[in-house]
Amino acid sequence: MLARSVLITGCNRGLGLEFVKQLAESVSPPKFIIGTCRDIGNAAALSDIATKFNNVHILQADVTDESQYCSLVAEVEKMTGTYGLNLLINNAGVAPKSTRINMVKSSQMKETLLVNTVAPLMLTKAFLPLLRKAAAKSEGANLSVQRAAVVNMSSVLGSIEENDQGGLYPYRASKAALNAITKSLSLDLQRDNILVASLHPGWVRTDMGGKNAPLSTEESISQMLATIAALNENSNGSFVQYDGRTLPW
Ligand SMILES: NC(=O)c1ccc[n+]([C@@H]2O[C@H](COP(=O)([O-])OP(=O)(O)OC[C@H]3O[C@@H](n4cnc5c(N)ncnc54)[C@H](OP(=O)(O)O)[C@@H]3O)[C@@H](O)[C@H]2O)c1
Repeated sequence: MLARSVLITGCNRGLGLEFVKQLAESVSPPKFIIGTCRDIGNAAALSDIATKFNNVHILQADVTDESQYCSLVAEVEKMTGTYGLNLLINNAGVAPKSTRINMVKSSQMKETLLVNTVAPLMLTKAFLPLLRKAAAKSEGANLSVQRAAVVNMSSVLGSIEENDQGGLYPYRASKAALNAITKSLSLDLQRDNILVASLHPGWVRTDMGGKNAPLSTEESISQMLATIAALNENSNGSFVQYDGRTLPW
């Protein structure tokens, strides 16, 4: 089992939806697979999965709306009880178009940083009591996703070293800043035995990745789940891609 309980944000389509699907269909599925979306009424595919698998739960949340966090955490606490939340996957994200230097707008910078950077940090902060509860259930100093972890869905486009094309100001900046957050969280939460890592899913055929991307959601998520399952103390504070290869910051 990857972890007893997993919460993934942005699950009505794209990578989030495929995370829920593959976790539900896995041989040894988590006891609680919690997928969030902004509008349950507009999440038919996710609702279909939840109808078929009784360990799949849907909760509604706009990750930028901090006023919703309290009830979101309370719902998850009601489900997971004294076991807490083992794995938080901050997946929800946006990538605005037309962001070369002559086109980029401050509104795109603010919106993208809010969704891709501020929300994962504040949501992680909100779920800390539940992550700590899960971490405290195991003894010793080992770090693993089975115990307690936060996975931030980053992008190779957030790598400063790999940037040889320029542009994409909002998206690149938001994921580079998310990576900085991953690093700080990994240091701050180590004493609580909570692992934190940034993952790049590859370039994937979703609404965001577009139809020319080389990877299907099935290929990306199956490899990411194996990579996530293998994260350990050596991976704490790391930036890895779907197949486990370490990426430069
Ligand atoms: N696809 C790729 O090639 C690729 C590559 C590198 C990294 N990534 C990262 O992987 C993650 C998932 O990407 P994807 O390709 O699956 O994108 P996608 O198909 O565009 O889906 C994005 C998801 O995020 C949700 N979302 C956006 N803003 C939200 C908000 N304020 N509150 C809650 N949910 C929100 C969307 O919900 P709505 O339907 O309500 O908008 C949707 O479920 C993102 O963080 C992205 O940056 C993707």
